[in-house]
Amino acid sequence: MHRPVLYQEIIHALQPRRDGLYVDATIGAGGHAWGLLQASAPSGRLLGLDVDPQALKLAQLKLAEFGERAVLVRASYTTLGEQLSVLGWGAVDGILLDLGMSSMQVDTPERGFSFLAEAPLDMRFDPDNPMRAADLVNELPEGELADLLFKYGEERRSRQIARAILAARPLQTTVELAQVVANALRASGRGRGRRGIHPATRTFQALRIAVNHELEAVEAVLPQAVAALAPGGRLAVISFHSLEDRIVKQFFRRESRDCICPPEQPVCTCGHKASVREVVRHPIVPQAAEVEANPRSRSARLRIVEKLTDQLA
Ligand SMILES: C[S@@+](CC[C@H](N)C(=O)[O-])C[C@H]1O[C@@H](n2cnc3c(N)ncnc32)[C@H](O)[C@@H]1O
Repeated sequence: MHRPVLYQEIIHALQPRRDGLYVDATIGAGGHAWGLLQASAPSGRLLGLDVDPQALKLAQLKLAEFGERAVLVRASYTTLGEQLSVLGWGAVDGILLDLGMSSMQVDTPERGFSFLAEAPLDMRFDPDNPMRAADLVNELPEGELADLLFKYGEERRSRQIARAILAARPLQTTVELAQVVANALRASGRGRGRRGIHPATRTFQALRIAVNHELEAVEAVLPQAVAALAPGGRLAVISFHSLEDRIVKQFFRRESRDCICPPEQPVCTCGHKASVREVVRHPIVPQAAEVEANPRSRSARLRIVEKLTDQLA
């Protein structure tokens, strides 16, 4: 198993302490969490969340050596506030969100995340989610499918692809879908795209985001995460595409400003108070050596904020 993305950078960002409380809201295989527990020994504690029971099984094995210092719960990070109150953890010192899919999920063909292996069109993080990628591909009207590919995949040829999918329905497998997309783009003069990226990459990204309501989930968790931090506590978010990163960036910008009135307004009427400061103005990206060792890390962007100490009125 390789190292999780931006591993050292996350440990450095969250500055684990021996008596600290931490949350890994996307525990995956537990790689980052292992580092946080190790660095907060002997008594730091960590709550790990994931919606994928297979991920939790891996994390449980990986973190077994830490005993009760690691608490793992199968839950969406959109319920972060609720999970913390169940545990009675008033405020925490560090929260990590490592968004998107894990290596285990991509490398398990039957999960349907990869277009390189023949598998049903699934793409769910949470096996109890009633919607699979096949439902969208086979049931959405053409216009809605094109809009989805454009919005969540930033796919400029969304209309051509949607038309080709409708003509080929019903589609059952990842490879069938990837071929339909590749043929549609080849017919319109665009085969393998820039930088050798497979033509179906954007379509698969769009379907995965829609199936898992990923952008709505990120929007829902960010305010809960900031609210859960103790003064001086930090929130670190790793995103893997520009749609996610934009949400994180805009939220951090807004929450680190004392006034969010429109710039043309001469006098502040919003009464907004900054709750965090941005620890880094520009996102941290992996070093060349990490990208070489793990090409999937190439699009990772890490943003970090620190909760402000309450100001006296
Ligand atoms: C990139 S992986 C995390 C890898 C992890 N940092 C590690 O070190 O192994 C993202 C994880 O987030 C999980 N996930 C996705 N959406 C979620 C949600 N709404 N709530 C909780 N976990 C979620 C996925 O199932 C996946 O296991």
